[in-house]
This record gives sequence, C-alpha cells and structure tokens, in this order.
Amino acid sequence: MGKIKQLTSEIIAMIAAGEVAERPSQILKELIENSLDAGATRIEINLKNSGLDLISITDDGQGMSEEDIKKCWLKHTTSKISSQEDLERVLSFGFRGEALSSIAGVSHLIIQSREENQISGYRIVIENGQLIDEKPAGMPIGTTIRVEQLFADIPARKKFLKNPTLELKKLIDTITEIALVNPQVSFTVFNNGKNILNTGVKQNDIFKRVEYLLGNKIAKQLVELKFNSDNLNIRGYISKPQLSRRNKSKQFLFINGRAISDNGLSKIVKKTYGPLLEPHAYPIFILNLEMEPDQLDVNIHPHKHKVEFLEKVDVIFQLQSAIEQTLTEHDLTYKFDNPQQEELALRDKHTIAHTRDFLKESTEMFNVKEAPIEEEIIQIDNTYLIYQSKDGLVMIDQHAAHERILFGQFKEQFLKTKPQLVELEKGAALDLSLTDLESLKGLTDFLNNLGFKYSQKKQKTFLTHVPELFLKHDYLSLILELIDNYELGLRDQLVDSQTIRVLNFLACRNAVMAGEYLTMTERRNLINKLDEMTGAYICPHGRPVRVVISVGELEKIFLRK
Ligand SMILES: Nc1ncnc2c1ncn2[C@@H]1O[C@H](COP(=O)(O)OP(=O)(O)OP(=O)(O)O)[C@@H](O)[C@H]1O
Ligand SMILES: [Mg+2]
Repeated sequence: MGKIKQLTSEIIAMIAAGEVAERPSQILKELIENSLDAGATRIEINLKNSGLDLISITDDGQGMSEEDIKKCWLKHTTSKISSQEDLERVLSFGFRGEALSSIAGVSHLIIQSREENQISGYRIVIENGQLIDEKPAGMPIGTTIRVEQLFADIPARKKFLKNPTLELKKLIDTITEIALVNPQVSFTVFNNGKNILNTGVKQNDIFKRVEYLLGNKIAKQLVELKFNSDNLNIRGYISKPQLSRRNKSKQFLFINGRAISDNGLSKIVKKTYGPLLEPHAYPIFILNLEMEPDQLDVNIHPHKHKVEFLEKVDVIFQLQSAIEQTLTEHDLTYKFDNPQQEELALRDKHTIAHTRDFLKESTEMFNVKEAPIEEEIIQIDNTYLIYQSKDGLVMIDQHAAHERILFGQFKEQFLKTKPQLVELEKGAALDLSLTDLESLKGLTDFLNNLGFKYSQKKQKTFLTHVPELFLKHDYLSLILELIDNYELGLRDQLVDSQTIRVLNFLACRNAVMAGEYLTMTERRNLINKLDEMTGAYICPHGRPVRVVISVGELEKIFLRK
C-alpha cells in the first residue's frame, strides 16, 4: 500500500493555492524541501544555464515505491497530510501535494526513486503534463529529480527571466538559506559542471555552517543566541554592532527550520539593538524559532514563506528579550581587524621567525621580564584618548565616550527618580481613534510613571501633565509612538525609542566636544566612568566609543606572528 494519497476536495479548498513554479529558485526550494522531508543527509544539486536547462537534485532520503512514484506528480497528491487536524499541525515542509504537479506543468520532468527494501528503483518521464515513459532503474536508495527545459513552452515566462546571473544568485541564496539551518545535511552544488558549493559531509555544527556559507569575516563578529521558555526556544547568531549592514540581505529568520520573511519580527530585532545601531544600519542574524506546530499557521501563503502566529505579541516579546539578553551578556567592544596584514603575516612567517630568533639572541641581555605599565593617557588631536590596558592598546573617542556616559546617567535618573511634572495650563489635545484610546487606557500606569497624565472631557482626551525633561520636545509624537508600540505588543519596554531619542539629544548637547583639550584628571575620570558602565561600546548615534587593538593584533601588524 503506497504512502501518497489524493487529498479530499474539502482539504484542497483549505490550502493556500497559488503559482509555485514561477522561477528556477522557487522550483529548487520545493525540491530541496522534499528531500529534507524524506530525511536526506546528502543532497547533490546540478544546475545548467541558471536552472533553465537543468535543475537536478539527488538525495539519499527514504525514496518512494513504484506505486508512489506514479502518483507523486499528480495534482493534490501527498504523503504528508490527510486530514484537517494534520493541516493544523504541520511538521513537514510540504503539505499541499502541489509542488511536483506544478513543476510537471512547466517542464520535462524525470523522477527516479528507490525505497530501502527494494532491489531496484523506478523511473518515470513526464512531458507536457503526460506520462510518456516508465521503467525500473538501477540506483542507490533515495531520489533523483531532473527538471529539464524549464518554461520551454512558456516563452513569456522565460523572457521574464532574462538575467542568468541574477537567477543564479537567487538559486544560491535559496540553497544558502536552507543549508544554514540544516547543518546535519551536506550540500554539493554544480553549475554548468563546475562545483560552486560543497559544505562537506561531517558538518553537524551550525557555527561551522555559518562560517562556510557566510564567510569567516562575518562569523567572527557574531554572538551566539540561546533562549528557552515554556513555549519558545530560539537558537542562532546575531551580529555585534560593528558588523551591521546597510540592507537586510543577511537576515535569516526560520520558524521550526522553515525560512520565512516577517517584517514585524525583523523590525523588532533591529529595534532591540536600539542606540547600538545607527538608524540605517541593520544587524545580521540567523535565528531559528522553535515552537509547537499548533501555535502556527503555515498555510497562509502559496510559497510557504510566511506564517501566522497564534500569539504574535508573545513571540515578539520573547524575541525581544532574547536579543536584549544576548547583547548585554556579550563583549561588544570594537576590535581592530586587518585581514591584509593577516595574509602578509602568514606569507612571511618563515622569514620573520628566523630574523626574530636572531634578534632575540643578540638582545637577550637587555630583556626585561615585565615592563611597568605606564599610566599615561595621551590625547591626540584633542579628540582621541590613547592608553595601555590589560587588553592591549585602547583608543577612545572622547565625545562619543562622554555622550555614552551621560546617556547612561540620564537614563538611570529617568528610570529611578520621580519625574518632575509640569502642569499644562490648557492641556494638549490628543487626537485618538477608538482603538488608540483603548491602548492609552492600557498605558495609564506606564505613562504616570514616566510623568504624563491625561484626562477626558466630553469624549476628548487631553494631556494635563508632562515630565519636565520632555517639556521642550515633541511629547505628543512620543505618546502616539507609545500607543503604536503598545498595539504592537511592546508595552513592557521601559524606555521606548522616542524617550531614548530625547535622552540621546540631551546627552549629545552636554558632552565634551571633539577638539576640546582635556586635563590628565579629566581624561582619567572619563576612562574610569566608562569602565564602570556595562555595555558602553557604542555612542547613542551608533559610532564606536572604544577600539581595542590587542597585543596579538599588534604582533600581526608588526609581522611578529
Ligand atoms: N525527494 C523525495 N523523496 C521521497 N519522496 C518524495 C520526494 N519528493 C516528493 N516526494 C513524494 O511526493 C509527494 C508529492 O510531492 P510534492 O512536493 O508535490 O507535495 P508535498 O511535498 O506533499 O506538498 P507541497 O506541495 O507543499 O510541497 C510528497 O508528499 C512525497 O511523498
Ligand atoms: Mg513538496
């Protein structure tokens, strides 16, 4: 008895239908997901002409029986779900029984597969949606699917895909995305016969996978994120602020291993970095959120790259705390990085080692065991402070440092002390919708703590008291932003982004400027205060406060290592 069945018309009607075979990368995604659903540990992909002439995929998964092979390419046939309950708890990537039939409609398809206890496999050929050939085939256990002459009969669509380089990039992006969260599976990819990607076989290590796929330079600047709660586990990596990007191309978000795009969640990640990042800088992240499948609806988009959460607000909250926690736990100091020097150092290592030995011998008698640490703090260009610490050579931007210290102090004052309230003589009218008004009511305690008070007269709402700190600023926009955040589910965030902006502004106006001479005591005080603070790596505008060049780096610069 085969595993693949035709879905009933009731279930078919419930499935988010749509075109799933629009471009080579979408087809490849469907095929890889089928291999993963079949439990593959090795996947080999062959592409020709950016997938238009050939997309072939071979896996070592569980394979299909002859009976199943004959059914798998028909409309609405699947082995993955059979009832509405299954649809509400989808554990596999596939569930619609649609991908192979859509691909069969736009290409010539060859499917061959062999199950574990079969002596041989079986092979079918489908052209123009018709089965034209079938026969037994000798092959190892697993499945090979060849998609040939893609869109040959649909010139309009082929014309649409006129940029092969862009298509190939999309194909590689698709493989990269899936390979990132599946380190237990090895991926080998050929394009026009040339090996373009090979993750290696024994790579059941997500960090190594990230390093291989995104490069060492990025991997070096990532910090690990691990978060567990009753209903959500999050695993992955987020970038140190030093590594931010101007766009979101390196943001990988997965829910139960499924790559998804969710603007709301990506925004929350960026927002949680707060002043650690400039407004137009985006963090890099690779995050997999794991939760019970019945907490999700994966059946809302034909390409399956969007999901709906049963409790979105809760997910937002937890993601936010996970990021916050990770950023506070890790050392985010800017590190000097000079890859060219590293290369040079490697190349000349041999000669240098030789010369150094020679010099060592001749200078032995002047060797001092430990040099006394000079407490000198040098000011360069009346802007930068330079000194030696146990970490190596430290450089500080005096304005950024002072700004960061003041910001920390203002924030603490703001959170701890009772705000000074100023009564507004006439009251400031708040123009609110009905839902906004409900949110405002939910925010009453929070607002009172900040120092805002409001009252209602004849269906109108007025601000009556404002904290002194905000008096000269746009507090009405602040209230509206708080309401938006509340609707997004961020009500527990103590200092919202608008407050932070105001505190930034105050810090910046009061900090010492670049170009100002500082006495030795002032320099020392600044450094001591900065050392007392936790997380003072970046000024409120996102520029580095302190850069450290370790002794190891100095050795590389001077080709000693
Ligand atoms: N590589 C494979 N190894 C084993 N079985 C496969 C493979 N590819 C497809 N199948 C079988 O063929 C069936 C149909 O595949 P298809 O991709 O069309 O639908 P699906 O994966 O069930 O759902 P979806 O349309 O959401 O992807 C699958 O349910 C599975 O049983
Ligand atoms: Mg599928």
